[in-house]
Amino acid sequence: MKKKWWQKEVVYQIYPRSFQDSNGDGIGDLQGIISRLDYLKDLGITSLWLCPIFKSPMDDNGYDISDYLDIADEFGTMDDLKQLIAESQKRQIKIILDLVINHTSDEHPWFQEALKDPKSPYHDYYIFKEGKEVPNNWRSVFGGSVWEKVKGRDEYYLHSFSKKQPDLNWENPQLRKELYQMINTWLDMGIAGFRVDAITYIKKDLYFQSLESDGVDGLAKCTKAVRNQAGIEKFLDELKEETFKKHDCMTVAEAAGIRYDQLNEFIGDDGFFSMIFDFKYADLDIASGSEWFKRIPWSVADLRKRIFDSQLNVQKYGWAANFIENHDQPRATTKYLLQYERNSDAVKMLGAMYFFLKGTPFIYQGQELGMINFKRDSIDDFNDISSIDQYYRSMEEGYSKEEALEFVNLRSRDNARTPFPWDKNNGFSTHSPWLKQNNNDNEINVQNQINDNQSILSFYKEMINFRQNSQYSDCLIYGSIEPIEVENNEVIAYRRQYNDMMIDCYFSFSNQAMEIK
Ligand code: GLC
Ligand code: CA
Repeated sequence: MKKKWWQKEVVYQIYPRSFQDSNGDGIGDLQGIISRLDYLKDLGITSLWLCPIFKSPMDDNGYDISDYLDIADEFGTMDDLKQLIAESQKRQIKIILDLVINHTSDEHPWFQEALKDPKSPYHDYYIFKEGKEVPNNWRSVFGGSVWEKVKGRDEYYLHSFSKKQPDLNWENPQLRKELYQMINTWLDMGIAGFRVDAITYIKKDLYFQSLESDGVDGLAKCTKAVRNQAGIEKFLDELKEETFKKHDCMTVAEAAGIRYDQLNEFIGDDGFFSMIFDFKYADLDIASGSEWFKRIPWSVADLRKRIFDSQLNVQKYGWAANFIENHDQPRATTKYLLQYERNSDAVKMLGAMYFFLKGTPFIYQGQELGMINFKRDSIDDFNDISSIDQYYRSMEEGYSKEEALEFVNLRSRDNARTPFPWDKNNGFSTHSPWLKQNNNDNEINVQNQINDNQSILSFYKEMINFRQNSQYSDCLIYGSIEPIEVENNEVIAYRRQYNDMMIDCYFSFSNQAMEIK
């Protein structure tokens, strides 16, 4: 594989609402990010991926966009973003934006036009079905039917996510053209690329038939009919040709649901994207289909198997995007280490285990401090719409209130979305934050760790430096990877190899000393 610039990146993901507030309203913003660029530079990361910062009613915290080419007031202005791009550039940090093109907000002018006038060309930008009855039994990702009735008309529109996120109709060439123009506008503005949201949802099964129900609500999870459907390749290929390929940009697709035999198309030499996020090991604690109440037990051996399946399959065709956390996942410390979540050796081990896999590493804000899940005592303390849905669905499915709360605590997306702990008093904002802070007895914060060379933060810094700037860099970045077979069930081991250099890496999930066999 030819070397590409993005193979050498270390990406840091920012959830703008929760990173740094600059104006005392309790909500993180772009000026806040600018004020923390030196921290990020010092950490050693080379790219920043910002979760959506565009105009939005914030039903799904920005994943419901009402203007693709403007910034949400609470985050700042276009000038703030330009300043962020320029200030980042001074520090050799690139900016990657979130591209949400499966759906818009219901408050987007296109959708508003479509509602006002069914004869408007914008009506065909979305997926409407006429009729007095709900068209079928598909369940949206955030719960309830995918269909929402249009007020005053016998008509429904489709939403794979919340009802405030109507799906765009990718079958319409005019819509696609508008999206491409928007994407090119951003790329021309000097951003380095995109994380591409929910992209495997853009093609639907056009028969719109009901499916066999998989819940007591009589509905069936829509992913079987709206995700990774035959024909999606045509849209993705056109998207790449019309936009990404014209720029030397980096794209990382959230491509849940794709099979390993599709990897060549997705990330091969002339693939649709630079890389994809593979969720097969992120979701190892829940049954496929990913309802939080369908928990399954797992072992380190299962984790090892899934990681190597992913690495070896990806390596055949392309490049991996390695991660253990993001804004939709619980904290990795709690998920993978359970009762060892506060053991800093274990946290460092977990960090290194994924960081030195082959691919571009992604670090989610707070991961570098070893942040842990935030256990809440009541459903009222959650903000995330999927947490609220999963709580009530769990009870509908027969679990008790306590069990339902337990599932949500383990899986809630709010675990990752708590304000970033800069210091003992949190340092995130002078105002009470939009989402309760995870205090963890005032230990897990930057102030506490930054001058301690044994801290998790210092470990991440060393790890990044080791990958990026050491005599081992070529091997750690470009070297092949193969599993090292060991008998110890709680060990994950692999070999990186490049020319005449070979690095063997062993990671033990056990708290007992052991001999590797
Ligand atoms: C992706 C995002 C998630 C969002 C959803 C709908 O999965 O990562 O946060 O809720 O898409 O846009
Ligand atoms: Ca603010």
